[in-house]
Amino acid sequence: MGNKEITIGLFGFGCVGQGLYDVLNHSEGLKANIQKICVKDKNKKRKIDASFFTYDKKEILTQGHHNVIVELIDNANEAFDIVKEAMNNGVSVVSANKKMLAENFEELYQLQTKNNVALIYEGSAGGSIPIIRNLEEYYDNELLSSVKGILNGTCNYILSRMELENKDYTAILKDAQLNGFAESDPWLDVAGFDTKFKILLLTIHAFGIVLKPDDVFNTGIQNVSYDDILYAKQRGLRIKMLGLSQKVGDKYRVYAIPHFVTRESELYNVLYEYNAVEVEGAFSCKQTLVGKGAGSHPTGSAVLSDISALTYDYKYGYKKLKKALGNNTKIEDGIKQVEFDFSIKLYIRFQDKEQLKDLQILNVEEEYKSASTNYIIANVNFNSLFNIYNKRDNKLFVCAI
Ligand SMILES: NC(=O)c1ccc[n+]([C@@H]2O[C@H](COP(=O)([O-])OP(=O)(O)OC[C@H]3O[C@@H](n4cnc5c(N)ncnc54)[C@H](OP(=O)(O)O)[C@@H]3O)[C@@H](O)[C@H]2O)c1
Repeated sequence: MGNKEITIGLFGFGCVGQGLYDVLNHSEGLKANIQKICVKDKNKKRKIDASFFTYDKKEILTQGHHNVIVELIDNANEAFDIVKEAMNNGVSVVSANKKMLAENFEELYQLQTKNNVALIYEGSAGGSIPIIRNLEEYYDNELLSSVKGILNGTCNYILSRMELENKDYTAILKDAQLNGFAESDPWLDVAGFDTKFKILLLTIHAFGIVLKPDDVFNTGIQNVSYDDILYAKQRGLRIKMLGLSQKVGDKYRVYAIPHFVTRESELYNVLYEYNAVEVEGAFSCKQTLVGKGAGSHPTGSAVLSDISALTYDYKYGYKKLKKALGNNTKIEDGIKQVEFDFSIKLYIRFQDKEQLKDLQILNVEEEYKSASTNYIIANVNFNSLFNIYNKRDNKLFVCAI
């Protein structure tokens, strides 16, 4: 087996890029070095020598000095252009950009085949948790029935602090932004998009199903209030933002929605920026992997593991996807395997009943009204949730039971 030397062209020297730099400097035995780093802002002070940096992507992409491109920038469209160009130049890529990967998966899959290059992305889901390669390799023949997880550190951090410090969402979010745990525009994180991008990537490796982000419903903690935390607390529950991909009969259910979890769940005690992924299979039963879901060094270490894998020419085999495609299924047929018309039991907090009009409520099991808060526990047609999808003015807080 080869153990070739890797010369890295790195894009991005922010949180994860710098983490990778540190982790690589402390690694022993890995024959890899960062030769050039492309960044954007010419006026930013850098922690390492200026000779490492370039502002011109061509300097890395076209000069043939690098046998691996590591893409760690924060813009999904620009990242897609960089990754495409590198792959078309016959160079393998490591990325942690879940949005870029989830939005463009089909084209990226075809580029890997067409150019016979690898695109690997362990850091894109679950931060430091080694989940993608495990789904691909370890569970390659296991009959998996469900993959679900706490996949967004920002949501888990906010929910943990709200509960443990008895504070409302706005106060904790503001503090999280000041301390670098939340973005200045936190929408992609708090509204569940980031969780969804990650569960989409895990669904490809667990079940061989490729879905487009807009085909999958997500809602998050953007409207959570302390009343909801209290509701959970009084019943011995915790609210966790979960991405879920589950086989039910011969169909799959895939979504990202906050859930109440019980004390018995392995996910209950996963707090703050920690992430967890629970994998369930027919023979392996339930296994939970827990670890830091984000951050400079934890994510840098996942990226380093990918780089190390490239020293022995590792590529994802996409075994489950290839099996599905072998049955005369096209990649875009993944959606046909997903179920939308089912009943889901939800806790829904609202201000005004008018806000519920877009949901197809099948039956109400419990209703509570007070001067400060109203909620129902109801079975709702899942499909009707798309009527409130991605609406910033929607004020419902929805939590699966
Ligand atoms: N942060 C985490 O914990 C974490 C965890 C898992 C995955 N990720 C993913 O990892 C990626 C990087 O995240 P991050 O947190 O490290 O971002 P970040 O701290 O905001 O850093 C982004 C870096 O990208 C550079 N950049 C932006 N546009 C560029 C372009 N067109 N060409 C070259 N460089 C460009 C920036 O340059 P300047 O330095 O000049 O501004 C900066 O160095 C994202 O896809 C993110 O979703 C992050």
